[in-house]
Amino acid sequence: MRCPGRRLLRAVLSVMGTLFAVLSLPAPPVSFGTGTGAPESGKLIYEERCISCHGKQGKGDGPEAPYLSPRPASLVSAATSVKSDRELLAAIADGKPRTAMPAWKHTLTEQQQRDVLAYLRSLVRFYKPGTPAPLPPDQAN
Ligand code: HEC
Repeated sequence: MRCPGRRLLRAVLSVMGTLFAVLSLPAPPVSFGTGTGAPESGKLIYEERCISCHGKQGKGDGPEAPYLSPRPASLVSAATSVKSDRELLAAIADGKPRTAMPAWKHTLTEQQQRDVLAYLRSLVRFYKPGTPAPLPPDQAN
């Protein structure tokens, strides 16, 4: 007769083996809203290709900005932030007609375009207000 304890041990070991395999899978990449974009590599692309017009923090105040009409967009503005990934990816791929914004589809791969968009999204930050909200009237004094 086979020892039941051994079978139990084998079952426990196989469950542990499965758990170990699952837990040691690489973690999925961190993303900021664009699903498949990697902001770390987007940052390098941005600093090389976009910063001269859109500025270090994406405010549209790069060194070339004063010489352009219309001025480069502030990529952290509400007007740009509310646009969908699809709209912004189209602007990056095809450029903006009648502005200095070039088309990047011949220079950057689709993945690089998503990476740079992920970086743009990461530049938009929300700060907590500096002063605390006033107490409600019944709690004041
Ligand atoms: C030569 C200057 C210049 C460079 C370089 C440049 N841009 Fe632009 N960009 C502009 C201008 C000008 C506009 C149009 C202004 C507007 O849309 O209000 C614009 C618009 C955009 C918009 C659209 C914003 C909106 O609200 O529709 C996005 C997104 C953008 N740029 C991203 C990029 C990225 C990413 C790069 C680098 C890969 C880049 N730009 C490089 C000048 C530039």
